[in-house]
Order: sequence, then structure tokens, then C-alpha cells
Amino acid sequence: MKEKMEGLKQEVICKLQDASDLKMLNELRTTYLGKKGPISALSSMMGSLSTEEKKEFGKALNDLKDEVNTLVEKRKEELERIEMERKLKEDTIDITLPSTKVHVGGTHPITKVIDEVEELFTSMGYDVVEGPEIEQDLYNFEKLNLPKGHPARDSQDSFYITDEMLLRTQTSAVQARTMEANSEKGPIRMICPGKTYRRDNDDATHSHQFTQIEGLVIDQNISMADLKGTLEIFAKKMFGEDRTIRFRPSFFPFTEPSIEVDVSCFKCGGVGCSLCKGNGWIEILGAGMVHPNVLRDNGYDPEKYTGFAFGIGPERVAMLKYGINDIRNFYTNDVRFLNDFNRVNGGDK
Ligand code: DAH
Repeated sequence: MKEKMEGLKQEVICKLQDASDLKMLNELRTTYLGKKGPISALSSMMGSLSTEEKKEFGKALNDLKDEVNTLVEKRKEELERIEMERKLKEDTIDITLPSTKVHVGGTHPITKVIDEVEELFTSMGYDVVEGPEIEQDLYNFEKLNLPKGHPARDSQDSFYITDEMLLRTQTSAVQARTMEANSEKGPIRMICPGKTYRRDNDDATHSHQFTQIEGLVIDQNISMADLKGTLEIFAKKMFGEDRTIRFRPSFFPFTEPSIEVDVSCFKCGGVGCSLCKGNGWIEILGAGMVHPNVLRDNGYDPEKYTGFAFGIGPERVAMLKYGINDIRNFYTNDVRFLNDFNRVNGGDK
């Protein structure tokens, strides 16, 4: 009997080495320790033994069970450790491998210009305001000294929705809104960036939807010198410290006098080149002194208040600044253009 038990033990030790995973080990455990296993079979032989023999045999059998159990447990720990090491090895991350390229978007050139202009004007105490893109004829035209039938309306071919509603053709509409909304009828200093719409055929310099930044200052004793000083700061900030500006007479219904503003060419410094078409100056925006009719129609006393206004075209500024020659590039959102742009200008990649 003893030899049999010893034989069993050796058999288990042998087979344990062959159990190469936890599943096999479990099977082994049930084979040897289960109800139908050889150890159970041995215990069923106890019936034929004397009481003395039973005692001895029972103890030996229990010892054998304990031993087999301990051996299985040991092997289990070993197998678990091996499995853990295998997993760790498999999951090791090689931190020296080159990483996958992450594509990060950059700021759109128009947004860049708007951000820069906002930063400049807010630093001078201006508010940034907004107005609706679907606008009333009243604000887009009438309250800007452009009554129905006024010939200057023709230059802004409009998308009308009803007789009285249209997609705004100019952010100037927000001048009227801001004046009207100012219940104290006191000083105003604001800029308004936003989208505008006109029934133009799209080509390299025209787009049916584009962007404007309106500027409006109203206070007592505001003069054209204030306008010139302000726009000079703007020109230097956008096109370089050495820039100068000049005013040329022009016409806008909502300003009197009206002017067109040129900046000295930032490519040739004013001597004449292909960018400025040889004359040393580049037209950048329209401006003027707020027309008394506009002040009056929006609740301001033109005897007491004066003001200036200007309209910046961010597309034009971006085209000049970044050397872009087709306005459609801004809207088609071809990533090759946008990526190029961000690379050239050290975009926020
Ligand atoms: N609203 C004008 C346009 O769309 C631009 C403009 C010109 C705005 C002169 C102004 C201004 O505020 O004073 O062409």
C-alpha cells in the first residue's frame, strides 16, 4: 500500500511538470484528487482493514492528499508567474519607436486677421459687438442714409428674403443698431467683425459671402485727425511699423466726408513694385466722418456729437499680408492651402 502511495506521489510530481498551463493543471487536480481519482479509490479500500491499520492508513492517505494539494498549488503559482511574465513582455511599450503623426488644425487666416484687429482695438478701449446676418432693410440701408431708391444701393446687389429682410451686405448695419441701442445716447467705441453677403459672381477677387470689420467711434469733438491717428496705428500693426497712410476723397452715403485709405507699400517701402502696381500705395479700407443724417436717424444730436466710422475687409488684409491671390482659397477650405498657410506663417501647429 505504501509503495502504491509513493508511486502515486511520484506520478503526480512527474505529470505536474508536464502541465504547462492552468487548464491542464486543473484537469490534473481533478484526475488525482477528484471523487473518481486514485486517491479516492485507495480510501475505499479502507473497509477491509483492521482498526489499527485504518488509523495508520487514513493518516498516510491524508498526508498524501495534503502533499498532492501543496504540489498542485505550488505549480499553480509557478504557472501564474510564468503567464504574468509572458504578458508583461508582450505588452512592453517601446518608447523609442517614432510616434504616429498627429494632425492639428491651425487658425484660419481670416480668423487670424480678425483676432489681431480685435486685440488691437480692445487694447484701445473699443467694445467688440455683433449683429444679425439676416438683417432688416432698415438697419442695412435706411438708417445709414440710404433710403429706398437711393442709387448707391445698386452697388451692393443684395440677397433679399422679403421686401424688408435681407442678408446684410455690410457690417455698417451694426452702426445703426449700436447707436439705437445706446439708451443714454453717449459715447461709443466699437468694432464689429462679421459675415456679409452680396450677389456677386465669385472670381479671384469677389465672393458672394465675405467678411467685414466695422468700426464706429462717437463722442464730442471727434475729428478727422482722430480717425487718421487711429487708422495709422491699425496700418502699422497690420503691415509694419514703418508704414504711413494717406487719405483720398471718396463717397459713402453714411459718411461725410468719406475717404479711401491707402497704406505705403510694405513690399517696396513705397518706391513702386508689382504689388502696389508701381505707385507705392495700396488701398486698404473705406472710412469717413459719420453723416449728420445717420447720427440724427439713430437718436444722436449732430450738433453735440460727431464720430468716425471705418470698414475693414479682412480678406483683403489677409491677401495682402500673406500673399494670397485668390479670395476663393479662403472658403474652399482645401487643406493643402490651409496647411501651407500655417506652415509659412508659423501657424499654431
Ligand atoms: N460698408 C462699406 C462697404 O461695404 C465699407 C465702409 C466704408 C464702412 C466707409 C464704413 C465707412 O464704416 O465709413 O463698402
